Amino acid sequence: MKGDTIKAYFNQDAVVEDYVSATNRVGLWQSEKIVFRQIFSPEQRILELGCGTGRIAQGLWKLGFRDITAIDFAPRMVEEAQRINGVLNAGVNFQVADACALPFEDQSFDGAIFGFNGLMQIPKRENRRIAMRGIFQVLKPGATFCFTTHDRGPFLNNDFWDKEQSAWDEGVQHPDIDEFGDLYYESPHGRLFIHTPTFDEISEDLNQSGFKVYATFFRWDICQEPEIVREFSDECRFWIVHRPQEA
Ligand SMILES: C[S@@+](CC[C@H](N)C(=O)[O-])C[C@H]1O[C@@H](n2cnc3c(N)ncnc32)[C@H](O)[C@@H]1O
Repeated sequence: MKGDTIKAYFNQDAVVEDYVSATNRVGLWQSEKIVFRQIFSPEQRILELGCGTGRIAQGLWKLGFRDITAIDFAPRMVEEAQRINGVLNAGVNFQVADACALPFEDQSFDGAIFGFNGLMQIPKRENRRIAMRGIFQVLKPGATFCFTTHDRGPFLNNDFWDKEQSAWDEGVQHPDIDEFGDLYYESPHGRLFIHTPTFDEISEDLNQSGFKVYATFFRWDICQEPEIVREFSDECRFWIVHRPQEA
Protein backbone atom coordinates (compact mmCIF):
# COMPACT_ATOMS: atom_id res chain seq x y z
CA MET A 1 0.00 0.00 0.00
CA LYS A 2 1.67 3.19 -1.15
CA GLY A 3 1.19 6.82 -0.13
CA ASP A 4 -1.76 7.61 -2.40
CA THR A 5 -3.54 4.42 -1.30
CA ILE A 6 -3.04 5.38 2.34
CA LYS A 7 -4.62 8.74 1.54
CA ALA A 8 -7.51 6.92 -0.16
CA TYR A 9 -7.94 4.75 2.95
CA PHE A 10 -8.23 7.82 5.19
CA ASN A 11 -10.55 9.56 2.72
CA GLN A 12 -13.23 6.87 3.02
CA ASP A 13 -16.48 8.08 4.60
CA ALA A 14 -16.55 5.22 7.11
CA VAL A 15 -12.99 5.96 8.28
CA VAL A 16 -13.68 9.68 8.53
CA GLU A 17 -16.79 8.86 10.61
CA ASP A 18 -14.68 6.80 13.04
CA TYR A 19 -12.33 9.73 13.54
CA VAL A 20 -15.26 12.14 13.96
CA SER A 21 -16.55 9.85 16.69
CA ALA A 22 -13.09 9.79 18.33
CA THR A 23 -12.88 13.58 18.15
CA ASN A 24 -16.28 13.90 19.84
CA ARG A 25 -16.15 10.98 22.28
CA VAL A 26 -12.52 10.15 23.06
CA GLY A 27 -10.73 13.48 22.93
CA LEU A 28 -7.16 13.73 24.19
CA TRP A 29 -5.74 10.63 25.81
CA GLN A 30 -4.85 11.08 29.48
CA SER A 31 -1.18 10.58 28.54
CA GLU A 32 -1.38 13.20 25.78
CA LYS A 33 -2.84 15.71 28.24
CA ILE A 34 -0.02 15.07 30.70
CA VAL A 35 2.67 15.28 28.03
CA PHE A 36 1.34 18.30 26.10
CA ARG A 37 0.81 20.32 29.30
CA GLN A 38 4.36 19.57 30.31
CA ILE A 39 6.17 20.29 27.03
CA PHE A 40 4.07 23.09 25.49
CA SER A 41 2.40 26.22 26.81
CA PRO A 42 -0.87 27.70 25.56
CA GLU A 43 0.65 30.88 24.10
CA GLN A 44 2.88 28.85 21.76
CA ARG A 45 2.33 28.36 18.04
CA ILE A 46 1.72 24.64 17.54
CA LEU A 47 1.69 22.56 14.34
CA GLU A 48 -0.24 19.28 14.38
CA LEU A 49 0.47 16.83 11.55
CA GLY A 50 -1.89 14.06 10.43
CA CYS A 51 -4.68 15.73 12.39
CA GLY A 52 -7.55 13.60 11.08
CA THR A 53 -10.80 15.27 12.13
CA GLY A 54 -9.10 17.22 14.91
CA ARG A 55 -9.13 14.97 17.98
CA ILE A 56 -5.79 16.33 19.19
CA ALA A 57 -6.15 19.90 17.88
CA GLN A 58 -9.56 20.32 19.51
CA GLY A 59 -8.15 18.81 22.72
CA LEU A 60 -5.41 21.44 22.69
CA TRP A 61 -7.99 24.16 22.03
CA LYS A 62 -9.90 22.97 25.12
CA LEU A 63 -6.65 23.19 27.11
CA GLY A 64 -6.40 26.87 26.17
CA PHE A 65 -4.07 26.75 23.16
CA ARG A 66 -5.11 29.44 20.69
CA ASP A 67 -2.55 29.31 17.87
CA ILE A 68 -2.89 25.83 16.38
CA THR A 69 -2.34 24.90 12.75
CA ALA A 70 -3.40 21.34 11.94
CA ILE A 71 -2.78 19.57 8.65
CA ASP A 72 -3.80 16.31 7.03
CA PHE A 73 -3.33 15.10 3.47
CA ALA A 74 -6.82 13.53 3.31
CA PRO A 75 -9.25 16.28 2.20
CA ARG A 76 -12.31 14.55 3.68
CA MET A 77 -10.66 14.50 7.11
CA VAL A 78 -9.92 18.22 6.88
CA GLU A 79 -13.45 18.98 5.67
CA GLU A 80 -14.91 17.28 8.76
CA ALA A 81 -12.30 18.87 11.03
CA GLN A 82 -13.39 22.29 9.76
CA ARG A 83 -17.06 21.44 10.25
CA ILE A 84 -16.44 20.36 13.87
CA ASN A 85 -14.36 23.49 14.39
CA GLY A 86 -17.43 25.53 13.42
CA VAL A 87 -19.78 23.52 15.64
CA LEU A 88 -17.46 23.97 18.63
CA ASN A 89 -16.87 27.61 17.78
CA ALA A 90 -13.13 26.87 17.96
CA GLY A 91 -10.42 28.63 15.99
CA VAL A 92 -8.03 25.88 14.88
CA ASN A 93 -6.51 26.56 11.46
CA PHE A 94 -7.07 23.28 9.55
CA GLN A 95 -5.42 22.83 6.15
CA VAL A 96 -4.92 20.09 3.58
CA ALA A 97 -1.17 19.48 3.34
CA ASP A 98 1.32 16.64 3.08
CA ALA A 99 3.70 16.13 5.99
CA CYS A 100 6.42 15.36 3.43
CA ALA A 101 6.06 18.78 1.73
CA LEU A 102 5.14 21.31 4.38
CA PRO A 103 3.88 24.66 3.03
CA PHE A 104 5.22 26.75 5.95
CA GLU A 105 8.07 29.18 6.44
CA ASP A 106 11.20 28.00 8.16
CA GLN A 107 11.34 28.45 11.94
CA SER A 108 7.69 29.43 12.27
CA PHE A 109 6.40 27.07 15.02
CA ASP A 110 7.19 26.65 18.72
CA GLY A 111 6.11 23.04 18.78
CA ALA A 112 4.87 20.15 16.62
CA ILE A 113 2.89 16.97 17.20
CA PHE A 114 2.48 13.93 14.93
CA GLY A 115 0.19 11.90 17.18
CA PHE A 116 -1.32 8.43 17.18
CA ASN A 117 1.57 6.92 15.18
CA GLY A 118 0.75 8.98 12.06
CA LEU A 119 4.42 9.47 11.19
CA MET A 120 4.76 5.68 10.92
CA GLN A 121 1.96 5.61 8.35
CA ILE A 122 4.28 7.26 5.86
CA PRO A 123 5.70 4.42 3.76
CA LYS A 124 9.46 4.07 3.31
CA ARG A 125 12.15 5.20 5.67
CA GLU A 126 13.46 7.83 3.27
CA ASN A 127 10.00 9.50 3.24
CA ARG A 128 9.75 9.43 7.02
CA ARG A 129 13.16 11.07 7.12
CA ILE A 130 11.94 13.72 4.65
CA ALA A 131 9.00 14.42 6.97
CA MET A 132 11.30 14.66 10.00
CA ARG A 133 13.65 17.05 8.23
CA GLY A 134 10.70 19.19 7.07
CA ILE A 135 9.31 19.36 10.60
CA PHE A 136 12.78 20.30 11.88
CA GLN A 137 12.91 23.14 9.32
CA VAL A 138 9.59 24.72 10.30
CA LEU A 139 10.38 24.58 14.03
CA LYS A 140 12.16 27.41 15.80
CA PRO A 141 15.48 26.59 17.48
CA GLY A 142 14.70 25.16 20.91
CA ALA A 143 11.22 24.01 19.82
CA THR A 144 9.83 20.60 20.76
CA PHE A 145 8.40 17.84 18.56
CA CYS A 146 6.29 15.03 20.02
CA PHE A 147 5.25 11.86 18.18
CA THR A 148 4.43 8.26 18.94
CA THR A 149 5.44 4.88 17.52
CA HIS A 150 4.65 1.21 18.04
CA ASP A 151 7.94 -0.44 18.89
CA ARG A 152 8.76 -3.67 17.14
CA GLY A 153 8.93 -6.13 20.03
CA PRO A 154 6.79 -5.24 23.02
CA PHE A 155 3.55 -5.12 21.03
CA LEU A 156 3.94 -8.05 18.70
CA ASN A 157 5.45 -11.24 19.93
CA ASN A 158 8.83 -12.28 18.67
CA ASP A 159 7.33 -15.22 16.78
CA PHE A 160 5.59 -12.78 14.47
CA TRP A 161 8.80 -11.00 13.57
CA ASP A 162 10.78 -14.30 13.38
CA LYS A 163 8.29 -15.51 10.78
CA GLU A 164 8.41 -12.18 9.00
CA GLN A 165 12.21 -12.38 8.96
CA SER A 166 12.13 -15.89 7.44
CA ALA A 167 9.70 -14.74 4.76
CA TRP A 168 11.88 -11.70 4.12
CA ASP A 169 15.02 -13.86 3.85
CA GLU A 170 13.27 -16.07 1.30
CA GLY A 171 11.93 -13.09 -0.63
CA VAL A 172 8.34 -14.17 -0.18
CA GLN A 173 7.05 -11.22 1.78
CA HIS A 174 4.05 -9.34 0.45
CA PRO A 175 4.95 -7.41 -2.74
CA ASP A 176 3.80 -4.15 -1.13
CA ILE A 177 6.30 -4.50 1.70
CA ASP A 178 9.31 -2.31 1.09
CA GLU A 179 11.12 -2.56 4.38
CA PHE A 180 11.37 -4.89 7.34
CA GLY A 181 9.02 -3.70 10.07
CA ASP A 182 6.27 -2.75 7.62
CA LEU A 183 3.02 -4.17 8.89
CA TYR A 184 -0.38 -4.48 7.27
CA TYR A 185 -3.42 -5.31 9.29
CA GLU A 186 -6.98 -5.95 8.32
CA SER A 187 -9.16 -3.19 9.67
CA PRO A 188 -12.95 -3.06 9.23
CA HIS A 189 -12.35 -0.58 6.38
CA GLY A 190 -9.57 -2.35 4.51
CA ARG A 191 -5.88 -3.08 4.84
CA LEU A 192 -4.00 -0.49 6.78
CA PHE A 193 -0.27 0.18 6.70
CA ILE A 194 1.91 1.01 9.65
CA HIS A 195 5.65 0.78 10.02
CA THR A 196 6.77 -0.67 13.36
CA PRO A 197 10.30 0.63 13.92
CA THR A 198 13.03 -0.32 16.30
CA PHE A 199 14.25 2.12 18.92
CA ASP A 200 17.62 2.37 17.16
CA GLU A 201 16.03 3.10 13.79
CA ILE A 202 14.07 6.08 15.13
CA SER A 203 17.11 7.30 17.06
CA GLU A 204 19.17 7.25 13.85
CA ASP A 205 16.43 8.99 11.83
CA LEU A 206 16.11 11.72 14.44
CA ASN A 207 19.83 12.16 14.56
CA GLN A 208 20.16 12.59 10.79
CA SER A 209 17.28 15.12 10.88
CA GLY A 210 19.08 17.22 13.49
CA PHE A 211 16.72 16.46 16.40
CA LYS A 212 17.97 15.66 19.90
CA VAL A 213 15.99 13.23 22.02
CA TYR A 214 14.78 14.86 25.22
CA ALA A 215 12.73 11.94 26.54
CA THR A 216 11.13 8.72 25.35
CA PHE A 217 8.79 6.43 27.31
CA PHE A 218 5.82 4.12 26.94
CA ARG A 219 2.30 5.36 27.46
CA TRP A 220 1.80 2.88 30.30
CA ASP A 221 4.79 4.46 32.08
CA ILE A 222 2.86 7.63 32.76
CA CYS A 223 -0.75 6.61 33.25
CA GLN A 224 -3.44 3.99 32.96
CA GLU A 225 -5.69 5.13 30.14
CA PRO A 226 -9.47 4.84 30.54
CA GLU A 227 -11.19 2.05 28.64
CA ILE A 228 -12.51 4.34 25.93
CA VAL A 229 -8.92 5.32 25.03
CA ARG A 230 -7.66 1.72 25.18
CA GLU A 231 -10.43 0.63 22.84
CA PHE A 232 -9.50 3.37 20.37
CA SER A 233 -5.73 2.96 20.47
CA ASP A 234 -3.04 0.44 21.38
CA GLU A 235 -0.08 1.08 23.64
CA CYS A 236 2.69 3.15 22.12
CA ARG A 237 5.98 4.90 22.75
CA PHE A 238 6.17 8.67 23.09
CA TRP A 239 9.17 10.50 21.66
CA ILE A 240 9.85 14.04 22.89
CA VAL A 241 12.62 15.60 20.83
CA HIS A 242 13.82 19.11 20.23
CA ARG A 243 15.51 21.23 17.63
CA PRO A 244 18.63 22.39 19.44
CA GLN A 245 19.25 26.08 20.02
CA GLU A 246 21.67 27.38 17.42
CA ALA A 247 25.23 27.85 18.65
C1 LIG B 1 -3.87 7.40 12.82
S1 LIG B 1 -4.62 8.78 12.04
C2 LIG B 1 -4.59 9.96 13.37
C3 LIG B 1 -5.59 11.08 13.25
C4 LIG B 1 -5.60 12.04 14.44
N1 LIG B 1 -4.30 12.64 14.67
C5 LIG B 1 -6.08 11.33 15.69
O1 LIG B 1 -5.25 11.03 16.54
O2 LIG B 1 -7.29 11.10 15.82
C6 LIG B 1 -3.28 9.33 10.98
C7 LIG B 1 -3.64 10.52 10.14
O3 LIG B 1 -2.46 10.93 9.45
C8 LIG B 1 -2.80 11.31 8.14
N2 LIG B 1 -1.59 11.20 7.31
C9 LIG B 1 -0.90 10.08 6.98
N3 LIG B 1 0.14 10.39 6.20
C10 LIG B 1 0.12 11.74 6.05
C11 LIG B 1 0.96 12.65 5.35
N4 LIG B 1 2.00 12.24 4.63
N5 LIG B 1 0.67 13.96 5.42
C12 LIG B 1 -0.40 14.41 6.13
N6 LIG B 1 -1.25 13.58 6.80
C13 LIG B 1 -0.98 12.26 6.76
C14 LIG B 1 -3.94 10.39 7.74
O4 LIG B 1 -4.74 10.93 6.70
C15 LIG B 1 -4.69 10.26 9.07
O5 LIG B 1 -5.72 11.20 9.17
